[in-house]
Amino acid sequence: MTGEDFAGRLEAIERDFARALERLEREADLEALRVAYLGRKGSLAQLMSSLPELPAEQRPAAGKRANECKKTLLDLLSAKQDALQAGGQTADRSRFDATLPGRRDWIGSKHPVTLVLDEICAAFTAIGFDVVTGPEIENDFYNFEALNIPREHPARDMQDTLYISDSIVLRTHTSPLQIRTMETSPPPLAVIAPGKVYRRDADLTHTPMFHQIEGLLVDEEVSMADLRGTLTYFVRTIFSKKTRVRFRPSYFPFTEPSAEVDISCVICRGTGFCGADPCRVCKQTGWVEILGCGMVDPAVFEKVDYDPERWTGFAFGLGVERVAMLKYCIDDLRLFFENDVRFLNQFQAC
Ligand code: PHE
Repeated sequence: MTGEDFAGRLEAIERDFARALERLEREADLEALRVAYLGRKGSLAQLMSSLPELPAEQRPAAGKRANECKKTLLDLLSAKQDALQAGGQTADRSRFDATLPGRRDWIGSKHPVTLVLDEICAAFTAIGFDVVTGPEIENDFYNFEALNIPREHPARDMQDTLYISDSIVLRTHTSPLQIRTMETSPPPLAVIAPGKVYRRDADLTHTPMFHQIEGLLVDEEVSMADLRGTLTYFVRTIFSKKTRVRFRPSYFPFTEPSAEVDISCVICRGTGFCGADPCRVCKQTGWVEILGCGMVDPAVFEKVDYDPERWTGFAFGLGVERVAMLKYCIDDLRLFFENDVRFLNQFQAC
């Protein structure tokens, strides 16, 4: 046996003893436990008798450690004895004060991201959209290929993908739901798809997981004006009637034409200034980006066997944390993920 083995066994004795002590309920049983561990033939004494087997230079330290162990056991024993005796007294009914107020349970609150998700879904279901959901672990086909993003396409670099294998990814956006929906339902249709998405990105304004809501509407003769009208309705329902909306030309492989949508900054009301200070949220521009959108690219319709000559549609994808930050004037994204109850409690009344 080495000094290390010896120390390991001492530790095991301490552990077993503490466990046995915890289970013990009657003071009368303490003595038997003491004898089993600390008695002349108890486990500690037995281990001590193997001390001479240790290499001579390890013996002094081992002996010292064994003494410490003995002291630990004795201390635990007397603490337990005190506790058992005290327990007997508190059971005494005369010490029970029935006039003390009871403990109140905490009332939970919904997470701000959930609140905003619910509110956005409600705004869209009110105008006839259905809610659909899909898997967070996606294959290459739905996340990229069917969305007109073939392998080697530079657009794959736009999103820092988390790969599970060569062809399986954590979805980088909710757009795969466009394909999944069209594959299983014939047109016309109007759906929104809320959910978590993942990207290899982490800094002050990005987290590796965040929430998006995808929107897709397919019908005959859908135009960019329908898209603009729908999104303006959404923005004014979620923010205020006075919020302004602006479309900026952009590029997504699965929509043509594509746009990014900004709303007038709700923090500084589009002025770029909060009092005399430049607005931090819109960086003094008066506008903040909240979503990407466009008219469904005919190449996407072909992937799901919709006739691109007949069907037209629009799609959009919006960032939920972004909307929540603007709606509740939160300027630090990390607050959403720290789960500090002092922060979360503030959403109680909503
Ligand atoms: N999927 C895009 C993104 O995550 C957003 C988008 C959705 C753009 C639908 C156009 C249409 O950035």
